[in-house]
Amino acid sequence: MRNNRAFTKAVKINFTIFANGNKRITATVKKTIYKNIYYMRVDIITTFPEMMESFFNSSIMGRAQRNGYAEICLHNLRDYTTDKHRKTDDYPFGGCAGLVMKIEPIDNCIKHLKSQRNYDEVIYTTPDGKVFDQPMANSLSMKENLIFLCGHYKGIDHRIREHLITKEISIGDYVLTGGELAVEVICDAVIRLIPGVISDETSALSDSFQDNLLAAPVYTRPAEYNGWKVPDVLLSGHEAKIRQWEFEQSLERTKLLRPDLLK
Ligand code: 6GU
Repeated sequence: MRNNRAFTKAVKINFTIFANGNKRITATVKKTIYKNIYYMRVDIITTFPEMMESFFNSSIMGRAQRNGYAEICLHNLRDYTTDKHRKTDDYPFGGCAGLVMKIEPIDNCIKHLKSQRNYDEVIYTTPDGKVFDQPMANSLSMKENLIFLCGHYKGIDHRIREHLITKEISIGDYVLTGGELAVEVICDAVIRLIPGVISDETSALSDSFQDNLLAAPVYTRPAEYNGWKVPDVLLSGHEAKIRQWEFEQSLERTKLLRPDLLK
């Protein structure tokens, strides 16, 4: 993927929309500027880079990179092995079933990356991590350089977690075969928050969960289909009434579908 580094410089900028938690405040964060826009560098360590390539090259993730808002680099863990079989996992001490990811290739890869730039976090995706939510996405979106290590179904040598990992994230209470999908989910939620990635910046602010409220329903033309009508208020042109209606809908849908968010 493209290397924007040659054109960048680090400056302090006002990141106006997101803060820790769900509060909307203005924060000053250090960001790297590329052609007058600031972007995030994400390095992903995986044994299945080919599985992730099409995801990051498609749709909004692809466009975010082509337009210079994000630089996502996939690293094949096998390239950092030193043995002739290029082994990334091995049998666990203590003899239980399944293979465990080895320390050396992971340490080699992280060392190599850290020799090139400073990282804000080294994140490991694992079902026993902290469950990912919108406030976590908001706070990660303000970071500059992130490393993700895709977890492995059976686990990784625990010393990696003790000494190299700074944050452990799960995407929910269920088990996946690997952390690749989880990293895609997290990166999608984070990168779309970088100002400019979605054309209308306010659209990220009106997302479900950004106020701990679900979003109001949306409609487009035709105003009537099969006798199914768009709510009259949306056709009224009365801005204040429309905003009020959206708020009431948000509240009602949240009460009905996710009452836990209102507590
Ligand atoms: Cl981050 N990894 C795996 N393997 N399973 C998960 C997960 C992560 N989050 C939820 N389930």
